[in-house]
Amino acid sequence: MAAFLAELEFALKPIKIGVLGLGTVGSGTVNVLKRNAAEIARRAGREIIITRASAKDLTKQRLCDTQGIVLTTDPLDVINDPEIDIVLELIGGAGVVKDMVLTAIANGKHVVTANKSLIALHGNEIFAKASEKGVIVAFEAAVAGGIPIIKAIREGLSGNQIQWLAGIINGTGNFILTEMRDKGRNFDDVLAEAQALGYAEADPTFDVEGIDAAHKLTILASIAFGIPLQFDKVYTEGITQITRTDVEYAEQLGYRIKHLGIARQTSEGIELRVHPTLIPERRLIANVNGVMNAVLVKGDAVGATLYYGAGAGAEPTASAVVADVIDIVRALTSDPENRVPHLAFQADSLADIPLLSSDRFNTAYYLRLNAEDKPGVLADVTRIMAAHNISIEAIIQKEPSKGETAVPIIMLTQITLEQEMNAAIADIEALQTVTGKINRIRMETLG
Ligand code: NDP
Ligand code: HSE
Repeated sequence: MAAFLAELEFALKPIKIGVLGLGTVGSGTVNVLKRNAAEIARRAGREIIITRASAKDLTKQRLCDTQGIVLTTDPLDVINDPEIDIVLELIGGAGVVKDMVLTAIANGKHVVTANKSLIALHGNEIFAKASEKGVIVAFEAAVAGGIPIIKAIREGLSGNQIQWLAGIINGTGNFILTEMRDKGRNFDDVLAEAQALGYAEADPTFDVEGIDAAHKLTILASIAFGIPLQFDKVYTEGITQITRTDVEYAEQLGYRIKHLGIARQTSEGIELRVHPTLIPERRLIANVNGVMNAVLVKGDAVGATLYYGAGAGAEPTASAVVADVIDIVRALTSDPENRVPHLAFQADSLADIPLLSSDRFNTAYYLRLNAEDKPGVLADVTRIMAAHNISIEAIIQKEPSKGETAVPIIMLTQITLEQEMNAAIADIEALQTVTGKINRIRMETLG
């Protein structure tokens, strides 16, 4: 009886949380954990309290109520506190933070992180250490902000063979593209607003050059296909080369340009690519605007499924962080061997499927080129395309702009091998009658 009571008392002991980072996501998380404490305790079966938090500058005004939390500038004060059960890593970056997370694991703490660069670059090592110590590392907030996409793929779709997934997985980039298209605003102004709203990464080139989306795609692909995390294999293009002209031509042809992360299993291996993409405007995902994210996942049993929600911001991201905390609290009573695996598949069953180099990708293309307005030019271009086995879906020759002699030619192709397209583009650019570089954007029907 005494043992039973002691066990009961242990079972009811509050879970203590230490938070590293009190910026956008850290503050949002503190607010959600405090505001919803009663509801969360009912769901988790235990009270959850934040006892310590670290930030770089303690004189800074915080967007959360830190009453009752011991603040420090040294993350080790949190990580080494023997009372703390779960460490929330909400600082960001893949440098010093990696050591913080490994130390927390070595100290037997469970870790929740929103840090996609950390997981994409060092997740294999971190998960191995976590498994050795029998602790959980949870990272729902690392992909698509508040959308529970990791849980959906890892648990909800675990009976499926995932065939492909495609998503708008960077909120800042989608916010910029939407504002530019709908309001004609300029790139730098919208990026500054995304930074002020707390959406952008500490280094915003990660958002606009596609690196952040590539981190997220690395994670999604591992969970979808059961492969180790391999960030260096992702083909990555950002949104900085998208022009107003291409947005308008795409719309005239019935398409929207979105920045997508695409992971697709083919008979040869897996394509992992992040780039601007033309999508038919009738697709739901083509109409996902602002900071919203959406991920389409195609499973062999379920068919296509779509997940939509806020991709960045304080409380949407906190929603995912807190859900991970609750999952850990619930799992604390279960056998460590039987917890949901970090990358969805058992660590010793990850597959060695080749990740394809970009010249092996299969996709359709939008091409825009400038050519002299004289007979035979179009015939030369179509001859080159035919020589590379590329079928043209649509072609438009525009009127030359005032005072210009060159005319824009816009082409949509059918699906072709990227290697053939690269060769065709090189041959067309070499024509005397073609001026400048061809603007190429990949195109997906996502059917
Ligand atoms: P912020 O820059 O807003 O916050 C970072 C926090 O970490 C700040 O409180 C900062 O302290 C603190 N910090 C920085 N360096 C150190 C250090 N060496 N030691 C201790 N504390 C430190 O970042 P976000 O909240 O935007 O992002 C945090 C993580 O969440 C990142 O991994 C990001 O990619 C991810 N994420 C962000 C989303 C968003 O919408 N912002 C959405 C999803 C994920 P101080 O405040 O004193 O400067
Ligand atoms: N900078 C990221 C974005 C934050 O804009 O999507 C969410 O991961």
